Amino acid sequence: MNKYQLPSDSKLRSKEFVFGVATSAYQIEGGVKEGGRTPSIWDTFCKKPGKVDNGDSGDVACDHYHLWKQDIEMIQGLGVDAYRLSIAWPRILPQDGVVNQEGLEFYGEIIKECHARGLKVYVTLYHWDLPQYLEDKGGWLNRETSYKFAEYAEAVSQYFGDTIDVYTTLNEPFVSAFLGYRWGEHAPGIKGEREGYLASHHLMLGHGLAMPILRKNAPNAKHGVVFNATPAYPFTEQDQAAADYCEAENYHWFIDPVLKGEYPQLVLDRQASNLPMILEGDLDIISAPVDYIGINYYTRNVARFNENGDIESVKQTDAEHTYIGWEINPQGLTDLMVRLNERYDNLPPIYITENGAAGNDECVNGVVEDEQRVRYFQGHIEAVHNAVEAGVKIDGYFAWSLMDNFEWAFGYCQRFGIVHVDYQTQKRTLKQSAIAYRNMLQERAEENR
Ligand code: FCB
Repeated sequence: MNKYQLPSDSKLRSKEFVFGVATSAYQIEGGVKEGGRTPSIWDTFCKKPGKVDNGDSGDVACDHYHLWKQDIEMIQGLGVDAYRLSIAWPRILPQDGVVNQEGLEFYGEIIKECHARGLKVYVTLYHWDLPQYLEDKGGWLNRETSYKFAEYAEAVSQYFGDTIDVYTTLNEPFVSAFLGYRWGEHAPGIKGEREGYLASHHLMLGHGLAMPILRKNAPNAKHGVVFNATPAYPFTEQDQAAADYCEAENYHWFIDPVLKGEYPQLVLDRQASNLPMILEGDLDIISAPVDYIGINYYTRNVARFNENGDIESVKQTDAEHTYIGWEINPQGLTDLMVRLNERYDNLPPIYITENGAAGNDECVNGVVEDEQRVRYFQGHIEAVHNAVEAGVKIDGYFAWSLMDNFEWAFGYCQRFGIVHVDYQTQKRTLKQSAIAYRNMLQERAEENR
């Protein structure tokens, strides 16, 4: 297949539907000591032995800090409508209270270049790279960090205003809080149930505090937040409650406070001894209206109660998995969209802000055959279409990722790009999955002409 197929009458064919590609700062930039940037928690974490596969780090990554111009040209070449990137907090505020003009200008150039090439710009403020100086004061365990995030949102939005088309406060607060502060698999590597929940509340509070600031400084931009969400299915009929709890903890815990102004009862009950201090008024702050929510979807979860009554995930051995071990399940994306639509009366429009597949792709004579990824995208684009047909308002879809990059604790061995990166030479090569994306978008552009 050299082109993803869109059903003939699909909303996805219209120009109003946004197709894009996504990246994040620490995963692609490198240049960690340049332009006045100071370390983030990921710089520190990568140096700890055994934390990241192969001892990899984002020190160089895709060298996007230097190659950004050619990368944006390449994005335009794909024919997408939008580019989703993140800003590195420690480039903007390298020290507490000190705004770094050079950092602002770096992203200013990128945004200008995108607009000159007809691309809309979706900017995430926090894609996990907390300044280390804030971690030194407790990081997301410290309520003060929520207010520091608001200061950072002020610095960015005051400078950029409406030149950023779509602002995102946080990317996947579940992962920041639970992988970072509960299970210790991500920076800063803290393990503790209470810590995880405390961090989650402070992240959401930071989101809520930032919202009115973003609206004030960028009144014509769109503002929202991005969640990872994994629909859960019971292993047997007896396991329905296990699946329900998984969804509650995985995404109701993060979305309910925003859209309902409350935390889900299932989690409040099960985690009673781990709950953070929720001050009066916090939920009012967190539930400030958003213009959209972003959903990152990769896989589904099949859950059951084990002999001890604990909840565990069951790997579906008969299903197909990607290189990272995640089950390929496009139906899960449609189901998830429908579940969100049913759960929230006031569900704003959704962007699928990430979706993609990991491989260990090789470039042979300038060609990268990523047949599984091509099928993955075809299936998931159809799944989005099906959700739209089922009545869910979905306004866009972003492939994760533009190019192979630093995949957090997996380092560089998991390749998520639709563009291959040779880390020795920094050469970029479009994979078959990128070519199929480009061809689909070209056909759509011709139709809309
Ligand atoms: C998401 C992250 C993104 C990338 C993908 C594979 O959880 O937002 O940075 O690592 O997973």
